[in-house]
Amino acid sequence: MSRQIRFNAFDMNCVAHQSSGLWRHPEDRSATYNTLEYWTNLAQLLEKGTFDGIFIADVLGTYDVYGGSNEAAIRNGAQVPVNDPILLVSAMAHVTEHLGFGVTAGTAYEHPYPFARRMTTLDHLTKGRVGWNVVTGYLPSAARNMGHDDQMEHDDRYDHADEYLEVLYKLWEGSWEDDAVVKDRERGVFTDPSKVHEIGHRGKHFTVPGIHISEPSPQRSPVIYQAGASPRGIAFAAGNAEAIFVAAPTKEVLTGTVSRIRDALEAAGRDRYAAKIYTLLTIITDETPEKAQAKYEEYLSYASDEGALVFMSGWMGIDLSQYDLDEPVGNVKSNAIQSVIANLQESARHGKEFTVRDIGRHGSIGGLGPTIVGSGTQIADQLQEWVEETDVDGFNLAYAITPGTWEDVIEHVIPVLRERGVYPTEYTPGTLRHKLHGRGDRLPEEHKGAGYRIGAQVAVG
Ligand SMILES: Cc1cc2nc3c(=O)[nH]c(=O)nc-3n(C[C@H](O)[C@H](O)[C@H](O)COP(=O)(O)O)c2cc1C
Repeated sequence: MSRQIRFNAFDMNCVAHQSSGLWRHPEDRSATYNTLEYWTNLAQLLEKGTFDGIFIADVLGTYDVYGGSNEAAIRNGAQVPVNDPILLVSAMAHVTEHLGFGVTAGTAYEHPYPFARRMTTLDHLTKGRVGWNVVTGYLPSAARNMGHDDQMEHDDRYDHADEYLEVLYKLWEGSWEDDAVVKDRERGVFTDPSKVHEIGHRGKHFTVPGIHISEPSPQRSPVIYQAGASPRGIAFAAGNAEAIFVAAPTKEVLTGTVSRIRDALEAAGRDRYAAKIYTLLTIITDETPEKAQAKYEEYLSYASDEGALVFMSGWMGIDLSQYDLDEPVGNVKSNAIQSVIANLQESARHGKEFTVRDIGRHGSIGGLGPTIVGSGTQIADQLQEWVEETDVDGFNLAYAITPGTWEDVIEHVIPVLRERGVYPTEYTPGTLRHKLHGRGDRLPEEHKGAGYRIGAQVAVG
């Protein structure tokens, strides 16, 4: 049987998420990101296309690496202004039945205790459709506004995140027994106190002695997403992630990334396929190859070169304004997203070296992932090639314009994939975790988080 393909939609609570300048396109609606209707309409549209979920990115700082200032980011609307992603979810859940929600929240600045409650609340309200994209941050500007001189060093950020997750697993998995809430009207007992346990966490970064203050939700721990692909990022993902977002410029680079992740999952005592891997991609499609190409060129005419370099500088942690446009960036070291630099270097080893101009062009539509252009049949062929050759599970689709890019994928590509039997025609009932892995609502026994359950092998405390 041919390999199945899955889609996620990649968005952010801002304009022209990864396609700087495209907000000026007459059909783009991203400038209405600050209305509920934008999000509820989008959620309903994606559910029509049986997307696994919508993944909402987030940052807590401005992109001020390019030119050493945030002026270009502000001028271009390059992920600033940006609103909170978590507040969008209830409204989208209310108008859909199956769509999953992967919300991004960083581990560096917010205490895990209130965050635990917020995610549990969403898991209740969505009936178990919420996921958390765990990020460790990459923008020094975010750190400064949280009162730090700079962000933590790259690998230290992940060590800190390890303890952050430990606290959360204890709260989500190990505080309330399943039958703690009894709602006994005659005895006047809402919750049996003997079944609610203090977690007694005392660690290097956090002290949380008490109980989780929310009752257990359908999934308890939200589905854990992760999106860092450096060696330390992969080690973190291997222990925690149930879905992983990667960004690779070519199939060759992606093949290496996917196999490193699957090896790491196995090394962490999990199945090679215990996490769904989605790679970032943008699809430009239409009825014919010619129309799709014309559409792509028209989109490019709205792209902002400056905005693209603002993004790429932020992701790479390198001020690209210092380079000549035709210069390759070469061997640089980064305290931002290390996998971005590693991917460019690996691509050069495969014979394709990126100059600053290429990096800007590559990033101008859809950010770090490639953009593919063609008719529905051509795109379907390419997607099948990508999954067969790289062992990736699916695609995290960025948009050029919204909702136009999603509408085009649903109209031209999904019907072809469905006809070929490689794309879902309906949703599996149940929680997001069950939809993704078919093994129930809760973290599987072999997952690190399950070790914090009451009565589990790993002692809580
Ligand atoms: C596809 C993709 C999406 C990401 N989305 C976000 C995001 O929304 N917010 C954020 O702070 N970091 C985001 N990141 C950054 C990572 O989560 C991670 O913190 C960073 O990549 C450093 O990890 P690495 O050096 O291990 O790759 C994203 C990375 C990738 C590849």
